[in-house]
Order: sequence, then C-alpha cells, then structure tokens
Amino acid sequence: MRNEQVPSAFSLDKVRKLAYSTPQYGYMTAVLPSPATASTRPTLRTALWKVAEAVATPVLPADYLDLIAPLRSGADLRGRVISVVPETLDAASVTIKPGRGWRGHVPGQYIRIGVDVDGVRNWRAYSVTSRADARDGLISITVKAIPGGKVSNHVVRALRPGTLIHLDQATGDFTMTQPAPARALFVTAGSGVTPVMGMLRNHLDELNDAVVVHSAPAEADVIFAGELRELHQSGRVRLVERHTDVDGIVTPESLDELVPDWRFRQTWACGPTAMLDAFEAAWADAGIADRLHTERFRPVVVAEGEGGTVTFLGQGTVVEADGATPILDAGEEAGVLMPSGCRMGICFGCVLPLREGAVRDLRNGELTVATPGDGVRIQTCVSAAAGACEIDL
Ligand code: FES
Repeated sequence: MRNEQVPSAFSLDKVRKLAYSTPQYGYMTAVLPSPATASTRPTLRTALWKVAEAVATPVLPADYLDLIAPLRSGADLRGRVISVVPETLDAASVTIKPGRGWRGHVPGQYIRIGVDVDGVRNWRAYSVTSRADARDGLISITVKAIPGGKVSNHVVRALRPGTLIHLDQATGDFTMTQPAPARALFVTAGSGVTPVMGMLRNHLDELNDAVVVHSAPAEADVIFAGELRELHQSGRVRLVERHTDVDGIVTPESLDELVPDWRFRQTWACGPTAMLDAFEAAWADAGIADRLHTERFRPVVVAEGEGGTVTFLGQGTVVEADGATPILDAGEEAGVLMPSGCRMGICFGCVLPLREGAVRDLRNGELTVATPGDGVRIQTCVSAAAGACEIDL
C-alpha cells in the first residue's frame, strides 16, 4: 500500500505524503554535458540552455517543458489521470497514464501519488490494481475515502480526468511467491482488498486453489464486489464474503470454519491492524509464521508512555498528545499542515526538527531528547511526545 492508508474500523488507506520542498521532489534540473570533449555540441547546448535560463528567469526552462510535456522522459515522474470510476459510494478506481520514467510494478506493490489539494501537495500511497503487462501502459489504483481523509476524499470525489499528479515508482514486498503456491488464501478487509486484487488480476492463471475471505461492513461497501463474485461463480476462486455489520469480524478462530485447511495455505492478509496482529499471533502459535504475508499501513506500536504538550513553533499551535499518538497525527488533528509520506517510518517524508523536549519512538521505545541548538530531527509519524516538546515547523 500502501499509504494514505489510514485504517479505520474496516477501511484502510495507505498513506504517503512528502514534504513539498524535499530535494527529491524539487525542480528538474538540466542535464549537463560532459566536460570538454572533442565535440562542440554539448557546449553549444549548455550555452543555449543558459541563455534560455537567463531569458526565462525567474521561471526555469524546465518549468516551461513541464507545461508542454509533463510526462516526458527525464522529468519528475508524473501521471495523467485518464478516468475515475466509482467502485462503491465512497471508493473509486483511478486509471493513470504514467510518464516515460515509469519502471513498472510487481502485482501487490503500492505507489505514492502526490496530489495538490487546496494548493498544498499531499503524498499518499495506494496499491496498484492493474495488470503489470497492460498493453496500453496504463496503471490503476483504487482509493477509499475515509472520514476526514483530505486526499482520499479529494481523489474519490473531486479528481478529474486530465489532471496531472505526481508519482513515485512502485515498491513493497506484499507480492506473490514464485512459483505460486498450490493452495493460496487471501484474507482482506475494506480497502485491504486492493493489493490482493492486483495479485488476482495478474496471477490467477497460476493459482489452482485460491480462497478469498473478504469482509466489509455491508454488501454495498464491498469494493470489486462484481469482479470477486464473478471469479467465484466461474470457479476461479472460492469467495467467502462477510458483512461485518451482521457477521462480525473475521478472526483466526473463525477461519477454522470458513477455511478449515488454512494452516496448509500460503496466506496474504491485508486489513486493520487489530486483524493483522491477531493473524500474526495465530500463525506464529501454529508454527507457520513463514506462511503468512501481511501488508500494514501503520507501524506496529510496541512502546507507549506518558504523553505531553507538543508545541508547533511558527504555527502557534499547542496540543496535548498522549504517549501513543504520533506527533504527525496530533498535529494534523489540530489543523497543522504537517509534511508526511508513508506514515510508517520508511520514507522520512515527515522529518521535522525537534527544537526542545523529548519524544519516544513508538516502534522501540527509544527516547530522543533535544535542547536548542542540537539540530535533532525526528520522524513525526513514529514519534510520540514523551513530556513537553517543541517542533519547528
Ligand atoms: S511519513 Fe514516512 S517516515 Fe514518516
């Protein structure tokens, strides 16, 4: 995923948003010629480029090129939205034509997309659901709007064909084993079905015995409902569709009844943190942890402590945060525009200076303490207040 994938009870949206000003996403620069070669062509090109820069200042020639050919080779990777098709009342599939620099994906992986909302670029991550060998070269993602989710709501309700968005290359290791297993099980909930649909669309011919246990609050909330049921009716997979409003959530215990041979299947699970925690514990207890592959959209929190007062300097915002809430979440809940990305401690898109005070790394309990002038920077997505602290923003 992927992502903004912020899990709600039964919806997940992977998340990735990156600081607008990071060098990685800054302006494209001109390709410089190699120094002093026999050919005069690079020198001429350089000279012409410099003239163009001088004429174009303060806007760089690359900016004009971006307007004319934003998907060209050598430009920052972008994509053009081709279509936005509703899947449910609050989910939509977005088809994108990626720029020339796109290197393709492995089914199950996610991409980060950068979308401008209210003049601010936000990065979120979503699983790629299209075929990896699509002839038209288009890729698709499926996004579920979550309550209060700035990007997911924008994508589902306001994104229009023709819009240019920023892209990152695909990444992630929630992918099919090679060769594909003789018996496979996919357990998904909410938008956790998206990476699995990416795998099914690409690997179905390799799977002779696949079971999909998918849950959503109600029938109307089932993403890809038609396609999943069709796969079931044609015998390509066995679909166990659960509506949690009436059936309750899927637990490891309930699998004994739903898929009695689950212990003998390679299993891919994607859903809320609590579900994945329970599954990982059950697979470990059964001594088959190596047969379970999970996709998380949030880091595993192993260390909580006392919270504290977080001051966002320059914003005039002060919040009380408990010891389990990432400073990123605490800031956003208070209306602070925070840089962010994966929200899992991977991309470093959320790094901000800790001017003073202490924070705890939620992944391992490690304390970081800063005094003014230390130049300490922290990942706000995996750090919680450990007493009073001040963040430079
Ligand atoms: S948002 Fe990616 S490391 Fe924090």
